[in-house]
Amino acid sequence: MPDNVFPSQHPLVAHKLTLLRSTETKPKKFRELVRELAILLCYEATTDLETEPVDVTTPMGATHGRELKKGIGLVPVLRAGLGMVEGIWEMVPGAEVWHIGLKRDERTLQPMQYYANKPVQPRVQVCLILDPMLATGGSASATVALLKEWGVRRIKYIGLIAAPEGIRKLRADHADVPIHVGAVDERLNDIGYIVPGLGDAGDRQFGTG
Ligand code: PRP
Ligand code: URA
Repeated sequence: MPDNVFPSQHPLVAHKLTLLRSTETKPKKFRELVRELAILLCYEATTDLETEPVDVTTPMGATHGRELKKGIGLVPVLRAGLGMVEGIWEMVPGAEVWHIGLKRDERTLQPMQYYANKPVQPRVQVCLILDPMLATGGSASATVALLKEWGVRRIKYIGLIAAPEGIRKLRADHADVPIHVGAVDERLNDIGYIVPGLGDAGDRQFGTG
């Protein structure tokens, strides 16, 4: 695996991804799995978050602890990234959520931006891009480019399934962005879907397929 690419080795991730891929999995269960996988992958991707010392009083007395340094941006890429944000936000309730809307053109496979909620002060210690599928890598690369344009310096990508093509594109465009995924699959097919993948992550979550 190239530098800065971290496919999860966790058995729980492998188990839940297998359920997620199955055609038997209906939207309600699919959404639950996306949420759970996002939490597990976020846990793996955030071992280097900055913390600060803080004093705390327990029922037995005073001691020293650590608290998360402020300034974490969660960036769900609409639509499919929406399913990844809630669970992570519960783990990191102080985070800001910056929505970005992108839709792939079905013919050219290029991402078209239709929404971007630029924060007034886009200053955070790190931004986590949340999008289940890294296919051609066009959407992820465009999202990183937009965040960099806004002045964000430290960015990580968290996804459920990646194609080798998407990893190559994101690394070529933004080698500084670590890629945390549940699995790296075989390839893209001729209409830009990941094989074996899970089909259309947006349609399967929102029942629109
Ligand atoms: C899917 C997915 C990614 C994108 C990945 O979104 O959620 O954002 O495709 O493909 P890429 O790596 O080739 O850019 P889609 O454009 O289908 O929109 P949706 O989430 O609204 O269904
Ligand atoms: N978007 C999806 O939802 N699935 C894929 O396999 C590729 C892009």
